[in-house]
Amino acid sequence: MAQVKSDALVFYGATGDLAYKKIFPALHMMVKRGNLNSPIIGVARGDYDLEKLRARAKESVQKYGKYDEESFAKFCELLKFVGGDYTDTQTFQRIREALGSAKNPTHYLAIPPVLFPKIVEQLDLSGCAKGARVIVEKPFGTDFESARALNKVLLSKFSESAIYRIDHYLGKRPVNNLVFFRFVNSLLEPVWNKDHIESMQITMAEDFGIQSRGAFYDVTGAIRDVIQNHLFQILCNLTMEPPKALDSESIRDEKVRVLKAITPLRGQDVVKGQYAGYLNEKAVKPDSKTETFSAMRLHIDSPRWEGVPFFIRAGKNLPVTCTEILVRFKHLPSAYSSIATQPNHIRFRISPDVTVAFGMLIMAQGEDMASVLSEVQGNPTPFPNEKDAYERVLTDAMAGDPTHFARQDYVEEAWKIVDDYLKSDVPVYTYEPGTWGPENVDELILPPGGWNNPVVVKK
Ligand code: BG6
Repeated sequence: MAQVKSDALVFYGATGDLAYKKIFPALHMMVKRGNLNSPIIGVARGDYDLEKLRARAKESVQKYGKYDEESFAKFCELLKFVGGDYTDTQTFQRIREALGSAKNPTHYLAIPPVLFPKIVEQLDLSGCAKGARVIVEKPFGTDFESARALNKVLLSKFSESAIYRIDHYLGKRPVNNLVFFRFVNSLLEPVWNKDHIESMQITMAEDFGIQSRGAFYDVTGAIRDVIQNHLFQILCNLTMEPPKALDSESIRDEKVRVLKAITPLRGQDVVKGQYAGYLNEKAVKPDSKTETFSAMRLHIDSPRWEGVPFFIRAGKNLPVTCTEILVRFKHLPSAYSSIATQPNHIRFRISPDVTVAFGMLIMAQGEDMASVLSEVQGNPTPFPNEKDAYERVLTDAMAGDPTHFARQDYVEEAWKIVDDYLKSDVPVYTYEPGTWGPENVDELILPPGGWNNPVVVKK
């Protein structure tokens, strides 16, 4: 696929929360590294102007980014502002003017999806869609039907190759390393299957609540917020077949194949929880049944994974903030079976630090016939110049590389797995903040050998 470099970035929702926390720091770094030299046009409704936008950007970069005076000055030179309503034709005429001679602009819709149909229509009418690409934020729809409808809207004016659906987990190097690590190390592929792997589990724990996002979170919940997208992407990276080539479509084809082979979720394979105190959060319905925790068991119906259970768990207000994967291996029958009391494992920590650890049995000290589990760890030295996830995905989108974005068929298949379950009326159990979810999780969903509760050493 031809990779055309974009020559202007228009971002809608320039005064919003996402722009403040993630987009400004990312754009500033892109300018600093020389990856963004084209006009950056912030678009927002309401009473705003360029000076105010610059001041907000400065505050944002100082708070959430790595502020650098020279790069920030350069960023300010590139920054323009267009104010106006997203339904007003004149707003888009002003955007067209601000784009000047740009031939391949990128329109980044960092705004609620209800506004997409109007914006897409206006982009087309104003000529702003010509030669352009569009970036959209997650969650992409709220179920299969709405995702399909959104796709239809976007595809009416943009080709699939011009649509970049963000999942910022794909901008995280340790998430991409899962695929890299599996396929560059010849040691793994022979054992990466149902004959040797007993189970896999993915935990995404956060030690904070929904913060001030009640209005968004209460209609979303943990499954839609992080499991259907971020954690399914991790699952695909762990389980996909080797792509036949390293181009974006060969890689994305393999991920879609994994999702198609996953059996849709059934009630008996999921637990939902809600932390005590959630109902008192701002903008949450007083009788809300939204889950702030979920644990589930999934099966991949493929020759490689037949019979292997995959466990996913995510929650707010858990004991730590950490995303970690544990791959447990089977015991092989031998004369040593009674000594090899624990399974081997590979542990991948995605955050807050990055670890790849092999859990192996060694001879226990002072004993000849007892084993003890010991981890051989590879902790990559933190790389000070590492791109943050948003910087990475925005750089890729501007460069025209769709590899680390969700394709239409991927998003729709991911919804198909959770859709029926999300529509069913299932109990939501309360849990105390600071615990690993509802007390009965282990009775309902328990990986063989138990849950891996990540331990995070506070620095
Ligand atoms: C977002 C979710 O997509 O990811 C948040 O909406 C969640 O609820 C966040 O906290 C986690 O991202 P990260 O990069 O901090 O692990």
